[in-house]
Amino acid sequence: MLSVQRLPGVFGVEISGIDLSKPLDEVTERELFDLFHQHQLIVVKNQSLEFEEFDRLTKYFGRQDPHFLDHLRMRGHPAILMLSNVFENEKPIGVFEGAAFWHTDVAYRDPPNSATIVYSLERPRGGCPTHFADMFAAYDALPAAMKERIEGMVVLHHYGNRADMDENSRTSAERLTPEQKKRVTNVFHPLVQRHPVTGRKSLYGVAGSSFGIVGMPKDEAVELLDELKAHATQARFVTQYDYDIGDVAAWDTYSTLHMATLQDRATTPETRRLLWRVSVTGKAPVYERIDRR
Ligand SMILES: [Fe+2]
Repeated sequence: MLSVQRLPGVFGVEISGIDLSKPLDEVTERELFDLFHQHQLIVVKNQSLEFEEFDRLTKYFGRQDPHFLDHLRMRGHPAILMLSNVFENEKPIGVFEGAAFWHTDVAYRDPPNSATIVYSLERPRGGCPTHFADMFAAYDALPAAMKERIEGMVVLHHYGNRADMDENSRTSAERLTPEQKKRVTNVFHPLVQRHPVTGRKSLYGVAGSSFGIVGMPKDEAVELLDELKAHATQARFVTQYDYDIGDVAAWDTYSTLHMATLQDRATTPETRRLLWRVSVTGKAPVYERIDRR
């Protein structure tokens, strides 16, 4: 039986009574994923995972989707992207500054990511919190006229941060290699999404990779997306979480936005930050099995 405690902010829970280094039995798996979809952001503390154990754990969330930023994947383990402020040979070993803006993970692909899972191995002294915004609550709180206006709208996404396209800026999206730039394409996702598991409506991808709305002039679309982003990132929908060493955290990407905190390059062992990150697409297999019954 899992125990659940609310995180200090406006949403998300800490789950205990589970050892994620072991395979999950079906009852625990169902309980864990029902909690995940109810609370959108989950944290399990004090875990000690080998690479293979973390890899197995992430497969319970969906189909692994090796990240578009292929130069920052772990060598020999392409499903894992590194998040870090550690440099080797003058180059960061993982995503360093490329996520310090509100975004939805990999909404610039089709299918988009459905969940992101991280495991914290090194924490810098003073911390480095991540901000999360609840897109179920943000949708629910929209005026009825706005809900009616945006219903059925389709949004154009591509790689980048709509609010900052200067690739030398610290708050733009991670800089792409010339080869990756050639692979950037436009994709389209509904602005209002029904969650594939719960059916609950959320505002999807209003920050980061959203650049236009089908059938609407570009300036008008950006104005509307900016208005929705300002609404969705109000303090009443936003929470922060600062990963401790040994934390496993996961967030539902259909119903959240998130933003990393700008960090300084590590200069000493105490200032190092390192997380392993895996993103997945599709439903958690536990629901696929239920759907088939
Ligand atoms: Fe992210």
